[in-house]
Amino acid sequence: MPYDFLNVEVADRIATVTVNRPDKLNALNARVFEELDGVFTAFATDRLVSAVIVTGAGRSFVAGADIAEVAAQDAAGLERLSASGQATFNKIERLPKPVIAAVNGFALGGGCELALACHIRVASEHAKFGLPEVKLGLIPGYGGTQRLPRLIGKGRALQMMLTGEQIDAAEAYRIGLVNAVATGPTLHEVAMSVALQVAKNGPLALARAIEAINDGFDRMADDAMALEARLFGSLGATKDMAEGTAAFLAKRPAQFTGE
Ligand code: COA
Repeated sequence: MPYDFLNVEVADRIATVTVNRPDKLNALNARVFEELDGVFTAFATDRLVSAVIVTGAGRSFVAGADIAEVAAQDAAGLERLSASGQATFNKIERLPKPVIAAVNGFALGGGCELALACHIRVASEHAKFGLPEVKLGLIPGYGGTQRLPRLIGKGRALQMMLTGEQIDAAEAYRIGLVNAVATGPTLHEVAMSVALQVAKNGPLALARAIEAINDGFDRMADDAMALEARLFGSLGATKDMAEGTAAFLAKRPAQFTGE
């Protein structure tokens, strides 16, 4: 499918989605959101895709929502924009396959929120993170007020949201906003190596692990444990579990089929 603002490539069962609007630092307009929504809907059932890398073209990952589009909205329009952007980012977070953000440059506002919706974040040394919405008289509207404190704690999240200042990749790593910074190998090599490492594992187990964390995170502990037990148990009926355990006992690599 041709896209206006995305490049989508699949190699070794890893899809790389590149937001490609470099003249506007990959700012998220309605069309970019529509395309992201469409491609992630397709990935959910695409048997040729085991994991996804999200990155940006040029010197930016994503420099936020398209401010020209945001500026044209009234209160009701802004609320709709927020709900619709949240729905797309929720789709990314709930994809039953690992999603890795490869943050190559500015991850500001909606770009930081896009990275937060991914399961694992790796960054280049030049990446910059920030939630500058307060400088525009706004707040983050694509899940940032909720995902950031859950990831790095309320105090640090408040500091980033109230100052609106950018932090660099080293600081993002120090506070747990990113999992790794690519210092030696290129960012794409680091992201690809993470993607291939996770994609070797049982696909159904990956899907249930993502579901257990996403759906269990905000539940009371007993309820979340019950969810874990149910998901754990559901894997007992799968060929993947039979294969994974048999392969371990036979001292051979597992061949998962996702059944
Ligand atoms: N929405 C729309 N356009 C954007 C944009 C955004 N979020 N971020 C950058 N752009 C556009 C700029 O308007 C400029 O377009 P132009 O060449 O047609 O004038 C182009 O991208 C390049 O950006 P520029 O500001 O010239 O680059 P810079 O290197 O001087 O600064 C940033 C880079 C990221 C610091 C700066 O672009 C910026 O602050 N962007 C907005 C970040 C933001 O507030 N995001 C949250 C939005 S809710």
